[in-house]
Amino acid sequence: MAERFYITTPIYYVNARPHLGHAYTTIVADVACRFHAMKEEETFFLTGTDEHGDKVVQAAQKENKSPRVYVDEISRLFQDLWPRLNIGYDQFIRTTDPAHMSVVERVLQEIYDAGDIYFSEYEGLYCFGCERFYTERELVDGRCPDHEVEPETIKEANYFFKMSRYQDWLVEHIQKNPDFIRPERYRNEVLSFLKEPLEDLCISRPKSRLKWGITLPFDDQYVTYVWFDALLNYVSALRYPDGERYRRFWPAAQHIVAKDILKPHGIYWPIMLKAAKIPLYRHLNVHGYWNVQQSKMSKSLGNVVEPLELAKVYGLDAFRFFLLREMVFGLDSSFSESALVARINADLANDLGNLFSRVVAMARKYFDGRVPEADQDVGGEFDLGIAEAAAETVDRYEAAMEGFEFHKALIAVWAFINRLNKYVDVTAPWELAKKETSRKHLEVVIYNLLEGLRIIAGLIWPVMPDTAATMQKHLGLETETPSFTLRRLRSWRQLPPGTKIPKGVSLFPRVDAKKSASDDSGAAAPGDDAAAFKPQIGIDDLAKVDLRVATVLRAEAIPRAKKLLKLEIDLGEIRTVVAGIADAYAPEDLVGKQVVVVANLAPAKLMGVLSNGMILAAAEDSGPRLVTIDRAVKPGTTVR
Ligand code: MSP
Repeated sequence: MAERFYITTPIYYVNARPHLGHAYTTIVADVACRFHAMKEEETFFLTGTDEHGDKVVQAAQKENKSPRVYVDEISRLFQDLWPRLNIGYDQFIRTTDPAHMSVVERVLQEIYDAGDIYFSEYEGLYCFGCERFYTERELVDGRCPDHEVEPETIKEANYFFKMSRYQDWLVEHIQKNPDFIRPERYRNEVLSFLKEPLEDLCISRPKSRLKWGITLPFDDQYVTYVWFDALLNYVSALRYPDGERYRRFWPAAQHIVAKDILKPHGIYWPIMLKAAKIPLYRHLNVHGYWNVQQSKMSKSLGNVVEPLELAKVYGLDAFRFFLLREMVFGLDSSFSESALVARINADLANDLGNLFSRVVAMARKYFDGRVPEADQDVGGEFDLGIAEAAAETVDRYEAAMEGFEFHKALIAVWAFINRLNKYVDVTAPWELAKKETSRKHLEVVIYNLLEGLRIIAGLIWPVMPDTAATMQKHLGLETETPSFTLRRLRSWRQLPPGTKIPKGVSLFPRVDAKKSASDDSGAAAPGDDAAAFKPQIGIDDLAKVDLRVATVLRAEAIPRAKKLLKLEIDLGEIRTVVAGIADAYAPEDLVGKQVVVVANLAPAKLMGVLSNGMILAAAEDSGPRLVTIDRAVKPGTTVR
């Protein structure tokens, strides 16, 4: 019976458009899935959107839309984006799907009937941003670590899930199955959290406060807490409990998440499964964050990187390769366009691209565009252990891919690529071609190089499917999918002599750093990579921004907000704005300065202060530099 592989991504909230972080997780799932297909396993790949809860209702309200219309729109953005990034998911689940909702109701009822859900009055510290209660211990300086606001004390009667009952069992399970949560640092994080008594989980929200959710089957005055609803997507998608897919794929389940949602996946979810008598997943694979300019990507920081724009500028395969090669799965990584360009030029254009074009050109020149006959008896001193190196590469690659160590798998492939580049230099085929007596040796060398490229094409297929297909075409191989099985990559001498080698193409043109998108955009500061990927706008869009000159009247620090200053400004009227410039300016330096303000930006609360406008500054790496006016003008003057 074939092995099976079931992989899931988090289902993404529909309160934000897809960005690089979402794309990374989903590309990783695609790569893992393709790798398991190469192992001739039956695979199933699930992704989707998480559509209930307060955050979604608020986001819909901001756009003056009903939650229903709003979730349909944003969910569609995710569904449409993935195929354009060559991500071949099998199913896209939405938590508003009726089939999902009925599984949630069913599981809730089962756990309730089994006595693991109870009703109780509770007074606690609630963060509205996170939609959950916090314990004192979880707060940082009395504030929610994510939203940096003090949670409010609220008293409410709610339903609770008896997680505490399962604490010892979970600790034991994690200890007995060391790779249940991986890499190890996250397993340790969960275990250390479980050293303290586990509190029961509040799994309901009264309808008086929130209506956009799944009604509890045992009390219609309440809806289900979003996480309890969302986590069940992993089984509802397979049609738990009776679905054929559930039977086949659930035993092979692996999840991928980033560290932000370790706790729900490493603690709530296994306990929910245990309480519902559903077998546990096999692995939880946890990765770190992509940061941009030292901060986590976020809409409010304005450093969101658009994956599709990057793929358009640099090529989809180069983009996918960069993400997988650059990030050590489990650790944080920082995204920059210059690092992407460096990898394209070094690893792709130079190492792989050159090898491919050199070998194809030589095969065409010396053997009339055909795979040569290579007499094995003649090989000997000209083989230089290439076949053995290939076999070793496939082994190292397989072990790394299996363990979600993608960068290591790619390092193994690139060691082999460089070995082949050296092989060309050492054997110097152009010298062998000069003498008829070394013809047989030339055949062996070119054959080995073509075979090596066949294996490289196979190994890069999960990460760079288009490039693999192009290489394959030039090696005269058939193109069905999955075209490369590890089994075939393990056996040497698969290329039939005489196969036609079409004229080569440049796999990865070098990227001239000076011509990269950020330099073209003009306004982008050096090193401001995120700025390079903003779409072009027309004059009408620009006219929507009301830019004005303002004079700073007063400035003061905001307690506990290291980067922020509260400014009182005069722009024809007096306003308060919050500016993230405390790193670069002392409050006293600002008074009397004339600055440029986006006057019609919707007000936003930052660290408890309502900011009514935004001050413009150049985003220098070393800190912000204010945009000023070189001669005094009347406060409120328009900037055009
Ligand atoms: N809806 C919940 C998940 C429920 S799963 C049952 C949620 N959604 S989310 O939209 O906030 O997505 C979080 C996930 O997006 C992260 O766990 C990660 O997979 C991905 N990422 C979002 N930002 C990221 C980075 N900056 N870097 C890396 N991955 C990031 O949480």
